Amino acid sequence: MESDFRSDTVTRPCAAMRAAMAAAEVGDDVLDGDPTVAALEKEGAAWLGKDGALFVPSGTMANQIAMGAWTRPGDELIAEREAHVLVYEAGAAGALHGLQSVTLAGHKGALDPAQVAAALRPDFVHCPRTGLVCVEQTHMASGGSVVPLENLRAVAEVARAAGVAVHMDGARLAHAVVASGVAARDYAACADSVSLCLSKGLGAPVGSLIAGPAEFLERARRVRKQLGGWMRQAGIIAAAGRMALAENVERLADDHLLAKELAAVVEGFSGLGVPAGGPETNLVPVRVEREGLGAEQLAASLGERGVRVMALSPAVLRFVTHRDVSGENIAHLQRSLAQILS
Ligand SMILES: Cc1ncc(COP(=O)(O)O)c(C=O)c1O
Repeated sequence: MESDFRSDTVTRPCAAMRAAMAAAEVGDDVLDGDPTVAALEKEGAAWLGKDGALFVPSGTMANQIAMGAWTRPGDELIAEREAHVLVYEAGAAGALHGLQSVTLAGHKGALDPAQVAAALRPDFVHCPRTGLVCVEQTHMASGGSVVPLENLRAVAEVARAAGVAVHMDGARLAHAVVASGVAARDYAACADSVSLCLSKGLGAPVGSLIAGPAEFLERARRVRKQLGGWMRQAGIIAAAGRMALAENVERLADDHLLAKELAAVVEGFSGLGVPAGGPETNLVPVRVEREGLGAEQLAASLGERGVRVMALSPAVLRFVTHRDVSGENIAHLQRSLAQILS
């Protein structure tokens, strides 16, 4: 049996999604537009409560388009110190847009609005301009934590009072929506631009959206072109994205429930622990605190038994639940852990 808990990006499109992709109406999106891409962009923008959206290949590109559209070289980017845009995008903010970063320690991904206010640069010729504040919902590095709406509002208020735009890395915004019951557009209202991944838990094989106001989208379109992210008959993959957004958001609740079950199973083994309170969404970081056993070694032993997980650090494994794992895979994990740890 194979149980792949490495990421919610490992899902394969279901038969209905493949059929929708095969039947998609397409055009050259660069020359005259692709009707299926246009429909996805419209639906995504409506869900997020923004003027419009652009379909792009990845979450990283969506975030980097926001960086390029909001800032100028030499500007500063304020973000939580473990934010995806700072830690997991290969230094793109500096390499592509000439940004330097101000990193703030957060609490489960939430920035302290007072710290953000203190980090904003004055309008002084010797200082860099503060170009952008970036927030992340859900926060990946802290294990899929949902950043509270009130916190996002407070951060936005501080940034906007200084005339600084806020970008929300909403790769897993849909997970926050389902876990909290807060509407996507309410979270998105706390940011000027928002990215959303259709391939993280929502079941599409590829694709993200970057949404925002009309004047931002004009600049964003240009940056997308500069990054080579404008696609041609992309309706084939946009059709999957449309289905992901229309049909696969509510079911994320199943993944969140499964993550709680997984955490309970893991906690049954001495020397393995999950963050207090358990997982809020579908990511489960597991501390490995057993004498002589590191996270990589445990991942390798699980791998030999068909259970695939990711070692985030020498002492932390990450499990992710998604539509292609079920209770049977949790039982497989439990059996495998019992064999390895007994
Ligand atoms: C919070 C967050 N933002 C952005 C991304 C980047 O997405 P992609 O892998 O599609 O570039 C990820 C990927 O896991 C993520 O977790």
